[in-house]
Amino acid sequence: MSKVTVVGAGNVGATAANVMALREVADEVVMIDIKEGVSEGKAMDMMQTANLLDMNTRIKGVTNDYAATADSDVVVITSGIPRKPGMTREELIGVNAGIVKQVTESVLAHSPNAVIVCVSNPMDTMTYLIHKVSGLPKNRIIGMGGALDSSRFKYFLSQALKANPNEVEGFVIGGHGDTTMIPMKRYATLRGIPVSEFLSDGELDKIVSDTMVGGATLTKLLGTSAWYAPGAATAEVVEAIIHDQDAIIPCSALLDGEYGEKDLCIGVPCLLGKGGIKKIIEIPMNDDEKELFKKSAEAVRKTNAALPC
Ligand code: NAI
Ligand code: 2OP
Repeated sequence: MSKVTVVGAGNVGATAANVMALREVADEVVMIDIKEGVSEGKAMDMMQTANLLDMNTRIKGVTNDYAATADSDVVVITSGIPRKPGMTREELIGVNAGIVKQVTESVLAHSPNAVIVCVSNPMDTMTYLIHKVSGLPKNRIIGMGGALDSSRFKYFLSQALKANPNEVEGFVIGGHGDTTMIPMKRYATLRGIPVSEFLSDGELDKIVSDTMVGGATLTKLLGTSAWYAPGAATAEVVEAIIHDQDAIIPCSALLDGEYGEKDLCIGVPCLLGKGGIKKIIEIPMNDDEKELFKKSAEAVRKTNAALPC
């Protein structure tokens, strides 16, 4: 029997739980939150779609009851405050570091073998914090950001190409921040053909900058940060782990010399499957890409330095 816990039943956590249930990622999904009744209510609402949508996953909601999360294979951490219009992800560090630390200790007390997927922002720094707090092997802690940013990149590419988003390939590495992410335009393709065959340098540069501020654009429109694509991207990462898919998905991983960096969590292509990160894929980068990655790593390191521990 496979089990996933989602901590934080807010916009992103509940959406991730719903997508996981609909895609039958796990047999059981437990949502846990500190707000009395919210997880229970959302779980009941989702379970009332089971007969409508032919869903077989059991979804359960609890308030503060970590015993109900016991023996989870994967724990997703979405608890914390989201950004508001005009705020950066980095500004969330003070509140979210305390929440993520407490939640990590609580979930591991009941699921000591779980793989942890961190979503809470500033995500690369929260992923690093989980390493420091837990001391778990590095393959078992994964930051979700690159899956979302890559999906946004593919969306903007498909719009410019007037193509079906499913026919576009592309990925984003680096930090999950408006100025730190690196959409890898040189590697993007439409059905295997480099997109530079169809788009001008100017068009590609606009797609890159639209992707980088993709989260901020939605935050301005919605008044809070987005949840449909973040929830679905989280479910994609969990599915790769639980179903042992050997999928290559950009995730924030603790580097130990890869890409010339150490003691830092940042987005890189990861081979995901049973147990978490099976391998960090080191792709060839040209001098410009190496420079962007170095700057991104410096910025993430600077945010890490603001951690209270
Ligand atoms: P939200 O406010 O809708 O949900 C957060 C939930 O966490 C709330 O229900 C709250 O009660 C709960 N919570 C707070 N402290 C808790 C604790 N100690 N234990 C359990 N639950 C607790 O926020 P939303 O939009 O779901 O965003 C959640 C986080 O995910 C934010 O930090 C946001 O910035 C981040 N995010 C990250 C993305 C990524 O790609 N890494 C994408 C989108 C959001
Ligand atoms: C997003 O990218 C704010 O991380 C959040 O939507």
